Amino acid sequence: MPDVISFARGAPAPEALDGDLIARCATEALADDPTVILSYGTGGGYPPLREWLAQHHGTTADHVLITNGSLEGYVFLLETFLSPGDLIALEAPTYDRAMLQAQLHGMEILSIPMQLDGLDVDALAAACEAGRVPKLVYTIPNFHNPAGTTISLEKRKALIALAERYDFWILEDDPYGRLRFEGDDIPGIYELAGPDRVMFSSSFSKTLAPGLRVGYLIAPPQLIGSLVKQANRTYISPAHLPEAAVYQVCAQGLLPANIARVTNLMHVRRDAMVDGLVHMPAGTICTPPEGGFFMWLELPEGMSADAMLQRAQEAGVIYVAGSACFVSGGANTLRLAYSGVSPDEITLGMERLGSVLNAG
Ligand SMILES: Cc1ncc(COP(=O)(O)O)c(C=O)c1O
Repeated sequence: MPDVISFARGAPAPEALDGDLIARCATEALADDPTVILSYGTGGGYPPLREWLAQHHGTTADHVLITNGSLEGYVFLLETFLSPGDLIALEAPTYDRAMLQAQLHGMEILSIPMQLDGLDVDALAAACEAGRVPKLVYTIPNFHNPAGTTISLEKRKALIALAERYDFWILEDDPYGRLRFEGDDIPGIYELAGPDRVMFSSSFSKTLAPGLRVGYLIAPPQLIGSLVKQANRTYISPAHLPEAAVYQVCAQGLLPANIARVTNLMHVRRDAMVDGLVHMPAGTICTPPEGGFFMWLELPEGMSADAMLQRAQEAGVIYVAGSACFVSGGANTLRLAYSGVSPDEITLGMERLGSVLNAG
């Protein structure tokens, strides 16, 4: 057992990373297409993968930008689609890096509370009604990071209707949606609304391997054209070898089996963490997610996850204090990632966490 068990990283466990699969696919990619892969490429990404992704999402390659991880596509959007001072709506809580980048790029943030079935569309409607209409709403629809929630079909439709009414864009960031343990898939927001209102981003970081750094964004062709130029100015072209390996995984039909394997690994971990909830202080609120990597805990009012982090670390367990995922507030919340550790580590980590929080 490691000295410190980390529930802090939203990364797949080592067992989820299939080195043999990637080695085989990278070798085949190089054998098939060595010159394109080993030369400077286009800013938009490895063309066959761009084409495959377009077909997978029912669109054309000029709608697709492949980036070195999906966060980079989001940052390009902040720099190209938005300007400093623009209003961006973020869920509260939201993915901490997305919030940090919005802040670093000088955006004004409209925080929209989260509910058990996803973002509070009525609160967003009230803000719009009051004249606070965002240019972009950034939402994580499935197995939210950090909240673990999935936005209901009704709310997806209501959000789209609101976007039509107030003429704002939605960015649906969905790296976890295919990692479902139970329940039924819900149609995506991009799928429901189409490309004139919604942009979509996803990643192979959670379904295949984060070290490959392959993510993508789907957006209108004119905007993608600007982003391709920006990519070109910044790094000439993204790394083509990992993209070509991912292409082989996808084109050979090997992705679904890998996703099923990773989903099973995550399911067992989620269950181990749910079992460990018995150690949490009385009054702790947690709704276990139906998929993905994260559990979100709300400690009884007055307890501070920030204040307890140091003691937790000394006791051999770490987490993300929920306050990192809010513009302000959230002191009594914390995010636990079960994704990166073994079920045994989860069991022990939850015991350690429980003893620290109960002593708190
Ligand atoms: C919601 C969300 N979006 C984007 C990312 C970034 O993923 P990538 O590794 O593709 O940059 C993450 C990673 O944790 C995430 O949770």
